[in-house]
Amino acid sequence: MSVANIGCVPQTVCRMSKRFYVTTAIDYVNGQPHLGHAYEKVAADVIARSRRSLGQEVFFLTGLDEHGQKVEQVAAAQGKKTQAYCDEMAQSWKVFAGRLNLTNDDFVRTTEPRHQEIVRACLSRVNASGHIYKKIYKGFYSTKEETFLTEKDRRPNGTFDAAWGEVIELEEENYFFKLKDQQAWLIEYIEQNPSFVRPDYRRNEVLGFLKNNVLEDLCISRPISRLSWGIPLPFDPNYVTYVWFDALVNYISIPAAHGDPEVAGGLNCEPALPSARLSLWPADIHVIGKDILKFHAVYWPIMLKAMGLPLPRQVLVHGWWQKNGERMSKSTGNVVDPVAVINEWGVDAFRYYVLRELDIGPDGNWTDSGFAARYSAELANGLGNLVNRSLSMLRRYRKGQVPPPSDELSAEAQKVIAETRSLLEQNRLQAALQSIWSLITRANQYVDQTAPFKLAKDPAQARRLDEVLYNLAEACRILAVLLWPFLPDTAIKIYSQLGLSDTPDRFSATNWGGLTPGHQTGEPAPLFPRRDA
Ligand code: ME8
Ligand code: MG
Repeated sequence: MSVANIGCVPQTVCRMSKRFYVTTAIDYVNGQPHLGHAYEKVAADVIARSRRSLGQEVFFLTGLDEHGQKVEQVAAAQGKKTQAYCDEMAQSWKVFAGRLNLTNDDFVRTTEPRHQEIVRACLSRVNASGHIYKKIYKGFYSTKEETFLTEKDRRPNGTFDAAWGEVIELEEENYFFKLKDQQAWLIEYIEQNPSFVRPDYRRNEVLGFLKNNVLEDLCISRPISRLSWGIPLPFDPNYVTYVWFDALVNYISIPAAHGDPEVAGGLNCEPALPSARLSLWPADIHVIGKDILKFHAVYWPIMLKAMGLPLPRQVLVHGWWQKNGERMSKSTGNVVDPVAVINEWGVDAFRYYVLRELDIGPDGNWTDSGFAARYSAELANGLGNLVNRSLSMLRRYRKGQVPPPSDELSAEAQKVIAETRSLLEQNRLQAALQSIWSLITRANQYVDQTAPFKLAKDPAQARRLDEVLYNLAEACRILAVLLWPFLPDTAIKIYSQLGLSDTPDRFSATNWGGLTPGHQTGEPAPLFPRRDA
């Protein structure tokens, strides 16, 4: 939308520059959060924090998917009113987001009026432009995955994979969204925009699916006689909206609620006051799991095009966690409770392990012993030991006062800083951690090689000891800034132990030489206390 259309004055235009907009999947509220949910939210948070650190304005959205049959069923099974059940769950999921130390700018619940209003505006829009029709639907439905199944999903003996849960057969009149005729442009779009779906093998999966199947039109309604827990269709009060059509719209309903002119203009809804407007859409990154790729890379772009809105820039697809090599499942008790891990080991140890262990893409495997091993080797003995001994020696030998600058480790630090920046810009979080840890390893090696505890015994080596202590303290400071997106609490502790009162949340502070001579550092304390096996 052009500036003239929204009547902005030039100053407003500056404030209105589009933010970097990153989203997560919105989780079903039919259960408690698990490792998979936590991993995805932490990955998105690190992306959001990195971009802010690199100087971009960011909007990070996460939230909950509260409609649909399975939420209604769980509430009923607990003898609760569905809305009351959702309100209770939302409370505990928000607390969970806080425990993960997420920096989300908003938290969407699909039962909120601000979201429902936009879903209805979207439906009116696609209905008015001829994308919707009514017919009798006969087929199968998986409540567990809230998805329609076809003959192709059936095994030769007529049964369905256990992963779908209970599959019911339906025959009812419903509204459909036309998907046929949409395949050609979408294939072309994905082929011409290689970064639209990442990683590459997920992109190939979408292209393979689109090239080898004829898309079935998407059923977007449920008669209220069978399901009342949903958003009524604006053009037929006897139906509610299919939960996936409702859920995907969260990515634009929240921008609309913040007055995003792109969305408000596209959907003809009331824009907010100019001073309250944010420019968010199109999303820069939708972070999602591999099981919901089709919804995000096929249905969602088609819905957006039908509404006349631009497509998101990237769908970033992560893999699934197992525990001890097996699918996590509540019924077998094979689960990882992220809250229990955080209570025992701290939130930064949890954030570190999941992102260091599993790159965004492949599947991962949680083992308690693997967690404890990384905690001990990489956090306690690697990072923790470096910071603790650097600051303790500075305290012991120089009363905690920063000596004159020296740049012995500067070149190596600069290399890691440049590499980490580039990896963060590519959302390669695991590789960024590896790069940062190469500096930790190097600095620990530097302690061993220069042996400051020996230098301290020889007064003739006082100048050399100054140099070593400066390089170590400055390396710790730079590490705090590099670690901020991943381990925010730890980064703050390092800064505070260094006696620095600001927050290490600006990547530009990685320039070598930030510590000034004579600066008084604080009290060292273990960052990751050692644990007995
Ligand atoms: O699908 N490992 O919600 P959801 C990694 N409401 N990620 C996992 C996982 C695992 N073991 N299990 C689940 C929904 N996830 C919809 C989304 S978006 C408009 C609507 C991921 O609660 C999963 O891949 O079933 C998804 O990205 C997210 O958790 C929410 O799953
Ligand atoms: Mg699921």
